[in-house]
Amino acid sequence: PPPILRTVAELRALVGLWKRAGQTVGVVPTMGALHEGHLSLARLARADSDRVIVTIFVNPRQFNNPSDLEKYPRTEDRDAAMLAGLGVDAVFAPAPDEVYPPGFASTVSVAGVSEPLEGAHRPGHFDGVATVVAKLFGMTMADRAFFGEKDWQQLMVVRRLVADLNIPVAIVGCPTVREADGLAMSSRNVRLSPAARARAPALYRALDVAAVALRAGTPIPEALVAARAAVLAAGYDSVDYLDLRSAEGLMPVDRLDGAARLLVAATLDGVRLIDNIAV
Ligand code: PAJ
Repeated sequence: PPPILRTVAELRALVGLWKRAGQTVGVVPTMGALHEGHLSLARLARADSDRVIVTIFVNPRQFNNPSDLEKYPRTEDRDAAMLAGLGVDAVFAPAPDEVYPPGFASTVSVAGVSEPLEGAHRPGHFDGVATVVAKLFGMTMADRAFFGEKDWQQLMVVRRLVADLNIPVAIVGCPTVREADGLAMSSRNVRLSPAARARAPALYRALDVAAVALRAGTPIPEALVAARAAVLAAGYDSVDYLDLRSAEGLMPVDRLDGAARLLVAATLDGVRLIDNIAV
């Protein structure tokens, strides 16, 4: 298995060696509880960069809900074993104090693209994400960073962040990995009861049906209302949002010209799941 580094000093010493040897460095930021979605990012990084770092840090600042933070699965030994066969060069898994030492006082806040959808339902979430991602880029000195389309809005926030702050990291978006029944892989899926797990794929199916309908000319409000009804009919308890947005700026769209994205967040069995697809 790859070495697990706990401190920024160790990390920078190792990356410094690589950089002086002229090697490129790819980073895959994660919160652990790894699944095939994370591994697909690590494989893409492996194919792309001379050296690959996977970071594992359950970032307290991006959890707006304390019980979600507490319940977040932590499986570091299993994670390290899963990365063993992939050719990952190092795992960076710092303690919270290493990332946020006493006196820490800075927040990175990306306006605009972080405000609707997840931003509206999880206050402070994207400030926490942007802050830790900016720090991870500074700590790893990576040339490239790999993010999943599963968290589409996060990917757009990170792209805005590096453009606005002139951070010299190329952001690579990677396709969503799904279970055989269409459910997007997520570390939160393990919290679903077997009965809820069986109903969960309705979320993706609703997006898929709506995308087909929209492309066939169904009016946007009609397609969105039908998709929301399908999610609730499948047994989801509530839908935070189910909306069609411009793909990059996440602005509301009232006609299908240019790239658009359908995005959804809904709660099933007390577990909040998100998904999105291109239209
Ligand atoms: P986490 O939820 O662990 O996800 C880490 C990366 O894996 C993210 O880029 C996410 O989009 C990607 N990912 C998760 N599920 C995926 C799937 N089914 N298919 C493809 N990619 C998938 O996202 C975070 O952690 C954090 O917010 C982080 C960026 C690490 C900052 O703390």
